Amino acid sequence: MANSMVETMRWQNGKLEMIDQRVLPARFEFIAYDSAASVAEGIRSMVVRGAPAIGCAAAYGVALEALKLAPSNSGETFTKQLEIGFEILAQSRPTAVNLFWALARMRRVWQAMGALEPLQLAQGLLKEAHEILAEDVRINRAMGEHGALLLKNQARVLTHCNAGALATAGHGTALGVIRSAVEAGKRISVIADETRPFLQGARLTAWEMMQEGIPVTLITDGMAGHLMSRGEIDAVIVGADRIAANGDVANKIGTYMVAVLAQRHGIPFYVAAPLSTIDLAIKSGAGIPIEERDASEVFGFQEKRWAPEGVAVRNPAFDVTPAELVTALITERGVVHEPNEARILALFR
Ligand code: MRU
Repeated sequence: MANSMVETMRWQNGKLEMIDQRVLPARFEFIAYDSAASVAEGIRSMVVRGAPAIGCAAAYGVALEALKLAPSNSGETFTKQLEIGFEILAQSRPTAVNLFWALARMRRVWQAMGALEPLQLAQGLLKEAHEILAEDVRINRAMGEHGALLLKNQARVLTHCNAGALATAGHGTALGVIRSAVEAGKRISVIADETRPFLQGARLTAWEMMQEGIPVTLITDGMAGHLMSRGEIDAVIVGADRIAANGDVANKIGTYMVAVLAQRHGIPFYVAAPLSTIDLAIKSGAGIPIEERDASEVFGFQEKRWAPEGVAVRNPAFDVTPAELVTALITERGVVHEPNEARILALFR
């Protein structure tokens, strides 16, 4: 059965343990975290990545900081120090709105607890982090059930980046839809874009699918158009890092290219994302902050350098796909065909 056994993060002996996604699939290792600053560094350096997983990790970062501060700080110092923890986490990565969504939720819970002792506050925050993690899996399963109906038996589905269990608390968003379709008895095969430069498709999506015996074929990003032109792709499903109020979708760099190609070939382009990825405060994709990462990710990989010394490099980590290229948005509340501002707003009512 296609059931995601990957535990992206877990609470173990008073610490947060996260799979080190930088070294998969060569090595499967957990790293333990005990503070907001260490979790922020884990997010920044991509030990954990993927919008919902970043949100879950940030929630634990707040709880860990509160637990660390509680024994020796009270009243104002506790509040001041915990605020610093929130700020450090907010600075870790800019594009995935789930990070800010999770921090806002943790802040609301903190405020709602009122004037409790720091240890009680810390325990309340930890309880909320556990709830955010558990809820994410439930949401992904709901999304999977809605989205699975869109996939035909024998569908060959292209995906970009990794929007799987590793990018969430479990099951995944885009890969969750595929998993749910397989669980429903459909034969689905996956075409995974390698996803330059960080290779989330080659390293993570390919690995996740192979763990469960879901047929997967790896291609480089530039091969997608060719396969589409030969009729070898039936649908595209991707995740999202932030969706603007008008339905424009920020996702991993290269997604926009895939969406344009899909439209050219009349192939449905689906985006699977929870409501926590929708940012109603941002009108259109033009307002979404796009992270620029280090040049070293482009001129080489890990220890290997292949571009000449001194070459100018750009490394935007995300791009924006206009809503008009999105066939449907798959959420935990259902499927929104041809998403626009009114249809997206209706999801929140
Ligand atoms: O830079 P990353 O690996 O954090 O980017 C991840 C993506 O772009 C995913 O597609 C997105 O977060 C959706 S994950 C369910």
